[in-house]
Amino acid sequence: MMDMKQSIGELIESALQDCYPGVENLPSAQEVTGYLEIPPEKEMGDYAFPCFKLSRALHMGPPQIASALAGAVSAPHLCEAKQQGGYLNFFLNRDNFAQKTLEAVLAAGERYGASELGKGKTVCLDFSSINIAKRFHIGHLSTTMIGQSLRRIYDFLGYRTVAINHLGDWGTQFGKLICAYKLWGDQATVEQKGVEELTRLYVLFHEEAEKNPALEDEGRRWFKAIEDGDEEAMSLFNWFKELTLRDTQRVYDLLGVTFDSYNGEAFYNDKMGRVIDELKAKNLLTLSEGASIVDLDEEKTGMPPCLILKKDGATLYATRDIAAALWRKDEYDFDKCLYVVAYQQDLHFRQWFKVIEKMGYPWYKDLVHVAFGMISYEGQSLSTRKGHVVYLEELLLSAKEKALKIIEEKSPELENKDEVARQVGIGAVIYADLQAGRIKDIDFSWDRALSFDGETGPYVQYTHARCCSVLRKAAEYGEEEPDYTALGDDYAQELLRQLSRFPEAVKDAADRYEPSVMTRTVTELCKAYNKFYYENRILNAEPGERAARLRLTLAAKNAIKTGLYLIGMEAPERM
Ligand code: ARG
Repeated sequence: MMDMKQSIGELIESALQDCYPGVENLPSAQEVTGYLEIPPEKEMGDYAFPCFKLSRALHMGPPQIASALAGAVSAPHLCEAKQQGGYLNFFLNRDNFAQKTLEAVLAAGERYGASELGKGKTVCLDFSSINIAKRFHIGHLSTTMIGQSLRRIYDFLGYRTVAINHLGDWGTQFGKLICAYKLWGDQATVEQKGVEELTRLYVLFHEEAEKNPALEDEGRRWFKAIEDGDEEAMSLFNWFKELTLRDTQRVYDLLGVTFDSYNGEAFYNDKMGRVIDELKAKNLLTLSEGASIVDLDEEKTGMPPCLILKKDGATLYATRDIAAALWRKDEYDFDKCLYVVAYQQDLHFRQWFKVIEKMGYPWYKDLVHVAFGMISYEGQSLSTRKGHVVYLEELLLSAKEKALKIIEEKSPELENKDEVARQVGIGAVIYADLQAGRIKDIDFSWDRALSFDGETGPYVQYTHARCCSVLRKAAEYGEEEPDYTALGDDYAQELLRQLSRFPEAVKDAADRYEPSVMTRTVTELCKAYNKFYYENRILNAEPGERAARLRLTLAAKNAIKTGLYLIGMEAPERM
């Protein structure tokens, strides 16, 4: 906990002044606090101060310093200090630590760990960013959930967040799709089947175009018609978009994901002039085989040129990203703009970030590619071509169904089984997705995701429900005065330690754009609660002990719920 650490820093500062009067430039409490470490072994205490940091200033060996300081620190209500080699180890006073931690957690309720850190700052998050006329498949799960989680984390830290679904709604494929629809499509079928039917038409186009290449020209003509704003082309194109968004909305509803903006690639179509003009004015645009490019000094940067305009004057993915960044900077004045996109697009982002830098915008530094690894399903890599596509809606619905079966076995008398099955099934998928560091490749497996043991969504949710159940049963005892000495055992202390680290974990997750920090934190919290629960009597303890252990249970429940919220999961009270 921050203020425990700080208090220890202050103790060291004053001990230093007592031991070394007259020495100039002794470190401040703040500096000392920064040096404090968490020892690798519990036997070494709760915090350790590495005295070698001071050897040079004091012309003394670390053990000597540690032993002098140990003699000078005296604050038994807070901690005990012991020299161990070159370290000064601090052992917190357990009762005081318990009381202070619980007071902090319980005062904050479900906002424990929230802060005003980001007050006045804006973070744009570009995530999910689906492609029009394509079905939402499991390959888009990570961007959606990492984005959603980071958005909640930044919100929680007081930032203003803007969640942007940068739709993939531009490109010649939409001309082809219109062409296919005009030839073989049927309004009622498309209306009814949505993206599934659009996909069928698109595949059909490619099959037919192999036999009859003239279709490609026809497709290009239709795309030109979209570019020119032709009425019929636009109305079909917008209809395809609506259908896609309608289908995806069902998935977003299941996942609880929302956006502030759906401005996609097409939105920037009339904002390209500015990009081209600026690049020209800044002498960055060069012609290469008829195309316009920005040279990125490949020798130095290792990056090939960034393609801005094709021979025929058409813009590219990168051009639209540059236009979008300029527009977002004007519109939102972001302090950071995050792009939650697979690591395969690494070069693309490095290239156009470099273009922004070359344009002289200092905020190129605030553009961050939050990359993530690949997902496979039951050991099979995903490939649309080989037919191993796993559609997200089907995955989520079957997660719910499988969860329902388990619940029917485990708790047949549960009232709102259907609702809980949704929370548990979807939660299991989200947890599995956000469990490992984002850059790792992951394999989704039903057995692992839905297990109630080990590190899974159901395990964490179940622990939360267990806390709720203890608290429900406790209602009959009313208010009792807590006796904090009842929380002196190792299990309670470990749980308190996990709780005390929660706020820093939230910040760490934000700093590293890493939702898995929260997944890990909430899992450790649950493990610690379950140990505490098995090792201690709670309801049938003495009144003072009971009150203290119930307060600890309530604190754990709140923090678990908050942690789940921050990774995008719900927390059922019974399951
Ligand atoms: N639609 C793209 C895809 O599915 C992702 C877009 C990411 N965002 C961006 N601004 N480039 O691959």
